[in-house]
Amino acid sequence: MESTLKSRFKAIDKNPSLVYLDSAASSLKLNTSLDAMIDYYERSGANIGRGNYVLGIETTQAYEASRDMVAAFIHANQREEIIFTKGTTQSMNMLAYHFEKLLKIGDEIITSELEHSAALLPFQRLAKNTGTTLTYAVLDQELRIDSEEVVKQISSLTKLVVLTYVSNVMGYITHLKPIIEKAHQVGALVIVDAAQAAPHIPIDVQTLDCDFLAFSGHKCFGPTGVGILYGKYEALNQLTPFEVGGGMVDEVDLYEQTYFELPERLEAGTPPIAEVIGLAPALRYIKDIGHEYILKHAKFLQKILIDELKTRSYIHIYNPNADIGITTFNIKNVHAHDVQSFLSEHHIAVRTGHHCAKLLQKRFQTSATIRVSFQIYNDEEDIKKLLEVIDSAFQFFQT
Ligand SMILES: Cc1ncc(COP(=O)(O)O)c(C=O)c1O
Repeated sequence: MESTLKSRFKAIDKNPSLVYLDSAASSLKLNTSLDAMIDYYERSGANIGRGNYVLGIETTQAYEASRDMVAAFIHANQREEIIFTKGTTQSMNMLAYHFEKLLKIGDEIITSELEHSAALLPFQRLAKNTGTTLTYAVLDQELRIDSEEVVKQISSLTKLVVLTYVSNVMGYITHLKPIIEKAHQVGALVIVDAAQAAPHIPIDVQTLDCDFLAFSGHKCFGPTGVGILYGKYEALNQLTPFEVGGGMVDEVDLYEQTYFELPERLEAGTPPIAEVIGLAPALRYIKDIGHEYILKHAKFLQKILIDELKTRSYIHIYNPNADIGITTFNIKNVHAHDVQSFLSEHHIAVRTGHHCAKLLQKRFQTSATIRVSFQIYNDEEDIKKLLEVIDSAFQFFQT
């Protein structure tokens, strides 16, 4: 590991005893991302797209430079295909809102039991409100989305396919390409939840050929409060603005109004300017260090952890073959929340519960699991500490 790597994250310095193993929920924040935000607030604080004075113009330029960065990060065809939102959740809700006017009884949406609530709930509501049929993707024995089966599930009734690129509980990468090809053959659109993919695997929306894709800044070493909605220009241009207001309106009459072109059309009101500006250094860092490096490091740690957990008969692992550094497990007969309290007393941060993927927990037939997720700032020492405390938690709850 790069020796100075940990020093790039102030939170590590400020919490010397912390073992942070919850990056799938939110990664630690990169110093340069924080610096960019502080610099904006200290030097400027001006709004974008409005004030025709130096600070306003500079702020607009910094904000738009971040859009260029995101476009490059996911290989978008043009910068106007990038919309800044509050996060993946808002991006998904914007899409579901739009399709509510288009779908009707008899149409079908295909999704999966692996989906995070952010991608599931907006489309469950959409299905309920429109009378659309919700069909769940076939999962294989490991509970992976079975691409070959999904291709067979797609028919002329299918209008939307909404799938996760990487599962936040199983760490599985979905083989999306054949699904997208088949969806397009029948005229369906594909929405990809890339919240877990963005920090771990390179995304190329043109090669993937998805219609829409969403992710959040806070899982990519960037700030909270900023997310991305990508859409192919033509598809995005059809979207009904979820919000209307300042910054997106062109002409206003007493009873009529016209809106700006993309991207402003879908960014009503004052956006999270500091967060958008803070996102660019975070994504640049991922690009510089490389997804390959991030994934290799996470998988290296994951293998060590899994090999160790497998030697403990009191552990049940739900995803021993995860594709990225996410491991979900339980201590048999001990509630995950009890384990978490124990770990927390020892400054170890893991996620326990349903991980906002309640359908998957139903498949597990349990109400809660423990999830460990790795990022570049983790090392073997973190695993050692985790295992020590897991072992003592097991001993403690046996007595
Ligand atoms: C796969 C996945 N989708 C969506 C989300 C929701 O992201 P946000 O809370 O930033 O909107 C998450 C966050 O945990 C996630 O892991």
